[in-house]
Amino acid sequence: MNAAAALPPVIAIDGPSASGKGTVAQRVARALGFHYLDSGALYRLVAFAARQSGAALTDEAALGAIATTLNVRFDGDEIYLNQLVVTDSVRNEEAGKWASQVAVWPAVRAGLLARQKAFRRPPGLVADGRDMGSVVFPDARLKIFLTADAATRAERRYKQLIGKGMGANMAALLQDIRARDERDSQRSAAPLQKTDDAVLLDTTHLSIDAAVEAVLARYKAVI
Ligand code: DC
Repeated sequence: MNAAAALPPVIAIDGPSASGKGTVAQRVARALGFHYLDSGALYRLVAFAARQSGAALTDEAALGAIATTLNVRFDGDEIYLNQLVVTDSVRNEEAGKWASQVAVWPAVRAGLLARQKAFRRPPGLVADGRDMGSVVFPDARLKIFLTADAATRAERRYKQLIGKGMGANMAALLQDIRARDERDSQRSAAPLQKTDDAVLLDTTHLSIDAAVEAVLARYKAVI
């Protein structure tokens, strides 16, 4: 048995923002009774904590220190930073944009690495993000690259925000998604890209249910 086989299995789900990977990953985790890692939330928290402390989003050393010492707790759908609920503050569009900016720094990525790996506990983990299959869990049992075209993703995000009673502007959302795609895939540290061993799942014309079923079927085929 090799070392990876002895560790709890990981399903890595990477993809661009608003591709639906969070929802799919959570549902796959629930179906299998696995733990769930929303790695994007960690980048959002670093950015949020930096804004709170007055650190510039360009100050790599300060951001790296924040990433390493972040006092965070995930409890169901709630996210706590220093024992305070910050869920809504880190889940909004602005925090996503900031997260994408702090995520370019190697010190931030390195500072979050051990924390992400610690989510790997029995009976298994479903992890979603940009570099789950390429950097954090390169030995993942299954790697999925979940995507959808930018207009579809903007429309989904629009409906989500309107559904929550929040204001949204379709053109601005599409522009933000394109900017985030560009920054996340062009950065030199752990860029978003499909690895050769990842399965491409394009959800442009696929429902969430169908995407969940597709991931579960793939997983059953590899265990
Ligand atoms: O998945 P999300 O939208 O919550 O992620 C927010 C940002 O965090 C994303 O634009 C880039 C960054 N991120 C990253 O660089 N690596 C990850 N594994 C997850 C997120």
